[in-house]
Amino acid sequence: MNILVLTGAGISAESGLGTFRDVGGIWAKFDPMKLATPQAFARDPQTVQAFYDARRENLLAAEPNAAHRALARLEAGLAERGGRLTLVTQNIDDLHERAGHREVLHMHGELLKARCTACEAVAEVRCDLAGGSRCSACGREGTLRPHVVWFGEIPFHLDAIEERLMAADLFVAIGTSGAVYPAAGLVGAARQAGIATREINLDPSDNAYLFDETDYGRASETVPRWVEAVLGM
Ligand code: APR
Repeated sequence: MNILVLTGAGISAESGLGTFRDVGGIWAKFDPMKLATPQAFARDPQTVQAFYDARRENLLAAEPNAAHRALARLEAGLAERGGRLTLVTQNIDDLHERAGHREVLHMHGELLKARCTACEAVAEVRCDLAGGSRCSACGREGTLRPHVVWFGEIPFHLDAIEERLMAADLFVAIGTSGAVYPAAGLVGAARQAGIATREINLDPSDNAYLFDETDYGRASETVPRWVEAVLGM
């Protein structure tokens, strides 16, 4: 059985990382147009860097939760049965990887990576960037930006995601509001291709009506329960 899972901020909520559109969420406290666009970075790079530096510090103090660990078990369990789990995440955290997940497609990039705006080299980063930085590839100072996808930029891995989705028997969205495209369009593409769909979320998302099956509750409870049902444990 081949499954494609799309995760959003809701799967990391119980690890203490904020979601964006829930009450009191990140975009309720900060203006994305001032912090998450190329124009904002060009206008005020220090403020943008400091925003991501603070989120990076939160992430380094966070731990994966039972939902991340359950998906890592599902990846191994399906592989043992000759199937495959493709994990696509909108999240820029590394909690899936730290839970033991082997292949993660980060369509919105990764907070623990930085990209040089001069030579495009991408490298791991765990320190603050606001205080200045040097590219380890080209040696230039102050050219590193967070390796994340800002509003108006093109997400990563779109061809691979499309290809894997068309080969899937099941599409599952976990912890996402279905508010941001192209991720929010995956369920429609799955339905058009006759692929079964399931939403696992705290509350119905904006496109809940498009899903064949739905399962509402906290991810740390709903995801392990679903994985055990799929693996027949
Ligand atoms: N368990 C399961 N779902 C949860 C939990 C939880 N404990 N807590 C919150 N949720 C759900 C909410 O009900 C909501 O539908 O997670 C979803 C989070 O939605 P958003 O905050 O909009 O996050 P997301 O869908 O990942 O946002 C997509 O928007 O700003 C951009 O780049 C950013 O990747 C992000 C994208």
